[in-house]
Amino acid sequence: MSLPPHELDRLRRSVTGRTHAALVADPELTDDERRDLDILVARRVAGEPLQYLEGFVDFGPLTLKIDRRALIPRPETERVWEEAVVSLRRAGPGTVIVDLGTGSGCLALALKHAFPEARVIGVDISAAALSLARENAVLTGLDVEWIEGDLFGALPSDLEGRIDLIVSNPPYVAAGDELPAEVVDHEPSVALFAGPVGTELLARIAEEGYWWVGVGGWVICEIGDGQAEAAEAMFGGFDREVRKDLAGRDRILVARKGASCCV
Ligand SMILES: C[S@@+](CC[C@H](N)C(=O)[O-])C[C@H]1O[C@@H](n2cnc3c(N)ncnc32)[C@H](O)[C@@H]1O
Repeated sequence: MSLPPHELDRLRRSVTGRTHAALVADPELTDDERRDLDILVARRVAGEPLQYLEGFVDFGPLTLKIDRRALIPRPETERVWEEAVVSLRRAGPGTVIVDLGTGSGCLALALKHAFPEARVIGVDISAAALSLARENAVLTGLDVEWIEGDLFGALPSDLEGRIDLIVSNPPYVAAGDELPAEVVDHEPSVALFAGPVGTELLARIAEEGYWWVGVGGWVICEIGDGQAEAAEAMFGGFDREVRKDLAGRDRILVARKGASCCV
């Protein structure tokens, strides 16, 4: 089986470090590059995600390292970042932003990039994911606090009622739901599966998050296709709205405590 030309082109760029234009002008590879390319092509044909083979992924304004320690950041999650930036608008040294289930650190780091003065905290239950997030902080030169633990249980208690923005792309697949082999065989299952229903973590974020954000604070979460109604019900204590991803699906829950979220 051969790869689609655009995937082969990306892997060629990855092994040579050259641009597409440079490879068109001079397509010759060295023996070492050809050997490395053959290895990556074989792995890709066997089903490994392209981004893990390339080792890097673009997310909003950043280019981040990515490997099997964390979920590959998706375009839907860039929409969460965009909604968060537009909602919060501005942040000073007293602003607190928390990313629950930070994975590669993509949301936390892109928010620190947008709001350099804010205190940004990334939480994850996976030590492996956090080790990658730390490497991405070094790579991007962005200063985020990383905490290993279970959602709000990881946070310092003095932040209760003081958080300005919580973002999360929690696991939201129901145990037993079918996923493509490329996803389920390679990405961490702790990043994908939430429990028997799929909305278990979202429900905890809605319930506990209400007490952790301040009045006027935001909670912005990615949700699964078909979870909009359940998500709106869970966030009943907030002013809230479900917004669409680039494909027009209801995938982003925007909620605000004690103030309108829909300005
Ligand atoms: C869907 S991934 C999202 C990763 C990253 N934010 C992104 O959008 O690419 C969910 C993340 O939540 C983490 N996670 C799962 N259960 C958790 C829990 N109870 N507390 C904290 N993090 C958790 C997983 O390790 C994983 O990194």
